[in-house]
Amino acid sequence: MGLGGGEGGGGESAPAPAAGGGAPATAATPAVATSTVVEEGAGSVAVLEQEPPNEPPAPVIARRPKTPFWMVGLLVLLPIYAWVYTGAFGPRHVAAANDPVTVGSALFTANCSVCHGASGEGGIGPQLAGGAVLKTWPSVQDHITWVHTGGAPFVGKTYGAQGHAVSASNVMPPFGLDHGGTLTDAQIVDVVCYERVGLSGAPEDAANCPAVASGGAASGASTSS
Ligand code: HEC
Repeated sequence: MGLGGGEGGGGESAPAPAAGGGAPATAATPAVATSTVVEEGAGSVAVLEQEPPNEPPAPVIARRPKTPFWMVGLLVLLPIYAWVYTGAFGPRHVAAANDPVTVGSALFTANCSVCHGASGEGGIGPQLAGGAVLKTWPSVQDHITWVHTGGAPFVGKTYGAQGHAVSASNVMPPFGLDHGGTLTDAQIVDVVCYERVGLSGAPEDAANCPAVASGGAASGASTSS
């Protein structure tokens, strides 16, 4: 402060007034600091210079719990990495385990291959591979309904866009739970997706795999009778 002028040459004459003026100024600060300085006899100017050394311990302690800089960068990148990893940029292929085509493939092997062949080449039931189901069912919803009901409602009539006949002696069984079958709505959506995409090469989109549009294999479109 103004008293700083006496720091250099006024070392001898300054002490008395400085000490007197310094007392009120440091009255607001802890008494300990004042007494320490006075004992050293350096005057009030020294008070301003010596106080800082008492402070460092606080900052050092406060700095410790801080998040390291490299951790900040990592925390920022992590969500971005997760977003990229889950395929935000790629085609709509859900992670393998949830992919309707993958799930549908297993369901097909377990429930349909006995009549339609391991690769959909046909057997007791007609061929499903190579685009056959896409011609029969331009609408995925009709396709889904068919797997729900099987051929029973069409006996004596034709089914699908190709006008295929259902004979009373060779009728596909129903698979929907609502028709006494064994597959849930979501499972039927997945197996239909597999028939269209996996066996017939259609794109894996909402037009062939409603589960993809609604976000996963578990949430299939519900279709009733
Ligand atoms: C017991 C034998 C059998 C099983 C098991 C079976 N199907 Fe069929 N499927 C048939 C027969 C037979 C037809 C021909 C229509 C009819 O006569 O009912 C058919 C027709 C179809 C068609 C129409 C094909 C077309 O282009 O004409 C689709 C699609 C189909 N089945 C899907 C499935 C799916 C999906 C499964 C398994 C969830 C399945 N089928 C299980 C016997 C079967």
